[in-house]
Amino acid sequence: MEEIRLAELSGEERLRQMEYIAKIRSENDAWEAAGNPKKKYFSFVMGCQMNTHDSEKLVGMLKEMGYAEGDSETDADFIIYNTCCIRENAEQKIYGKLGWLKHYKKINPNAIVAICGCMMQQEGVLQTIRREYRRVVDMVFGTFNIYKLPELLYRRLETGKPVYDIWQDYEEVVEDLPRARTNPFKASVNIMYGCNNFCAYCIVPYVRGRERSREAEAVLAEVKQLAADGVKEITLLGQNVNSYGQTLEHPISFAKLLQMVHEVEGIERIRFTTSNPKDISDELIATMAEYPKICNNLHLPLQAGSDSVLQRMNRKYTKESYLEQVKKLRAAMPDITLTTDIIIGFPGETEEDFQDTIDVVKEAKYSIGYTFMYSKRTGTPAATMDNQVPDEVMRERFERLLGVLNPGIAELHKDFVGREMVVLVEEISKNDPNVVTGRAENNLAVYFEGSSDLIGKMVPVKIVYNKTFYLLAERILGESHGNSI
Ligand code: 5AD
Ligand code: SF4
Repeated sequence: MEEIRLAELSGEERLRQMEYIAKIRSENDAWEAAGNPKKKYFSFVMGCQMNTHDSEKLVGMLKEMGYAEGDSETDADFIIYNTCCIRENAEQKIYGKLGWLKHYKKINPNAIVAICGCMMQQEGVLQTIRREYRRVVDMVFGTFNIYKLPELLYRRLETGKPVYDIWQDYEEVVEDLPRARTNPFKASVNIMYGCNNFCAYCIVPYVRGRERSREAEAVLAEVKQLAADGVKEITLLGQNVNSYGQTLEHPISFAKLLQMVHEVEGIERIRFTTSNPKDISDELIATMAEYPKICNNLHLPLQAGSDSVLQRMNRKYTKESYLEQVKKLRAAMPDITLTTDIIIGFPGETEEDFQDTIDVVKEAKYSIGYTFMYSKRTGTPAATMDNQVPDEVMRERFERLLGVLNPGIAELHKDFVGREMVVLVEEISKNDPNVVTGRAENNLAVYFEGSSDLIGKMVPVKIVYNKTFYLLAERILGESHGNSI
């Protein structure tokens, strides 16, 4: 596999973008000083946490450029869609929005529309946009040059012409630009980009490129800055975090990185996603068990339970080795909760294969299962495989899978009733102003009576009731010491 090292260009390129930010800001300031209303943006994001995090960067830069948040497309001078292409329905949603914008732009031709992200990296998409949405879309960029938003927007504002900038290349990553965070106590940090696994169904390696890790020092500097800003919970992000650090000049393991992040004062919880089960090392399990700030919750995508399906998916583990990992994790951390992703209807999946998936679901006892019907992605090996599973069969298996997953989740939650846990309080409940909600260390959602002064605090509670998809609790006296009472 080609080795790529990441140049963290927080220097020159970052400064260049900061200059464009300043230029647009002064134009916007002048616009307001002339008595006009503040310019607004509307940001819409689809897909995974990686995309959500990219959009935080986009919004951070827009705010720095003097834009305020608008409520909807019709309330915005600048509209930006960050797209996903992992399944067909994500793409259809964007084309639906573009169809609507075709009409809207006739009413409001001054609104600037930008589209970016994974879908833009796919072959043919830019051509379609140029052909069919030329008057609708003003700016197109991809996954590798998110940081160039200020420059591209400036170019659009200056020339009035469409700006298209899609790279197939990605040797540099620019970090440390302004970013907006939706939650003052929780933040995500990219530790790596791209994926080398080439699972047969997955488009990600084609649209986010090869795996490349950030230097541990750069990750640590960012975590320290976030801690200084009051962040308590960090989620380390990568398509495949367990192979972190392998392409660095001085390779280090993901477990070592976790240990380094654990040292950062002020950070109380560390989460990470996503892990490929084939790469969960004993060192990682031991580190998770030993270091208290590392949360006892793991996303362990199963995808399928049948060995022959897993082999055709190119997942490089078996039903047995997956369940062995589950056993090891539970032996080291009896309280750990596991979440998963499952694809139903991968080409050639038989009823017997499907039963293997059901077996694993029953045994692994997930706290959340994200379930997907297989969606054919052009360019991936699975798209041309024989025996594509008919939609009706997929749908029927999907329902049966939920019939096993959901009661399992309720069952698992039952075990937590009567237990004492620490909750990081996030917000007031949407349904009751006297109730707050947050997450326990194992990521279960917990609700209890309380007021806004608890937001951002680690609060000890006792679980009193199982509501199937969340838990009700009562506050208990005493202090939390990190994640324990
Ligand atoms: N069809 C259906 N689901 C998919 N996923 C990835 N590619 C596809 C596809 N072609 C699912 C996997 C992955 C999650 C993010 O999306 O389960 O873990
Ligand atoms: Fe896709 Fe597999 Fe990489 Fe996950 S590990 S992003 S499923 S190729």
